[in-house]
Amino acid sequence: MTTIALYSNKGGVGKTAAAVNLAYLAAAGGASTLLCDLDAQGSSTYYFRVQPGIKRKARGLVKGNRELLDSVKATDYAGLDLLPADFSHRRLDLEYAERKKPTAQLAKALEPLQSEYDVVVLDCPPTINLLAENVFMSADVLLTPLIPTSLSLLAHRQLLAFLGEHDYRRARVYAFFSMADVRKRLHRDLMIDARASLPNVLQTAIPYLAAVEQMGVHRAPIYAFAANTPAATAYRDLWAEVRALIKL
Ligand SMILES: Nc1ncnc2c1ncn2[C@@H]1O[C@H](COP(=O)(O)OP(=O)(O)OP(=O)(O)O)[C@@H](O)[C@H]1O
Ligand SMILES: [Mg+2]
Repeated sequence: MTTIALYSNKGGVGKTAAAVNLAYLAAAGGASTLLCDLDAQGSSTYYFRVQPGIKRKARGLVKGNRELLDSVKATDYAGLDLLPADFSHRRLDLEYAERKKPTAQLAKALEPLQSEYDVVVLDCPPTINLLAENVFMSADVLLTPLIPTSLSLLAHRQLLAFLGEHDYRRARVYAFFSMADVRKRLHRDLMIDARASLPNVLQTAIPYLAAVEQMGVHRAPIYAFAANTPAATAYRDLWAEVRALIKL
């Protein structure tokens, strides 16, 4: 099982869009895949037309037992399951803080999935709290969307510094450009600078395209309604790079 986290300490950068499309592509390629919606806002859950839990506790994600698997829902897509968001996920870091090894809780919770899935995709909220540290401990690859703006690059540098200071294995962090507009000179220049100065920036840039926004209207991965568009091709290219990284 390989765990891929879509993570950024910045909000609204394209984590959920990438998580949904990459999870779809993993499953379409034959890997048994689970998308875990760790964000209490439930955006990836929304894209799959699944109701987020409101009353249940996030027991599975805290205790790490079979209850996690009981919460998993099938999606309309073969080979792709979803662990829906739960409103209690907003408290996950508080729950983890009460445990003995607070940063190892998510990894422990995901253990029962080992035998069930080839790929687990984590759609993370934009926070750098204890839940994020649990993500850093459990993900094999951290994929960070980067909008080509100075502040986005600054946030990424801060993330890399944080990971280095706290001894999380930094080499597993890969960044890709998201919402890139190559007609903008600033975007082009920043992308060149970032590739020269940041480690592990993937070749694929996801352009700013309306088809991605329309995922919210169709409530589906892009391949369900716009499979032959540049946006769909961009996520395919990104998945090819990620697949090579995880040797799937
Ligand atoms: N490449 C893109 N082109 C155009 N719109 C995009 C693109 N990627 C994402 N969006 C839109 O931008 C908004 C934010 O994207 P998304 O929800 O994927 O970001 P996020 O990083 O998961 O946000 P959050 O931090 O709130 O979880 C959404 O409305 C989405 O449709
Ligand atoms: Mg999101």
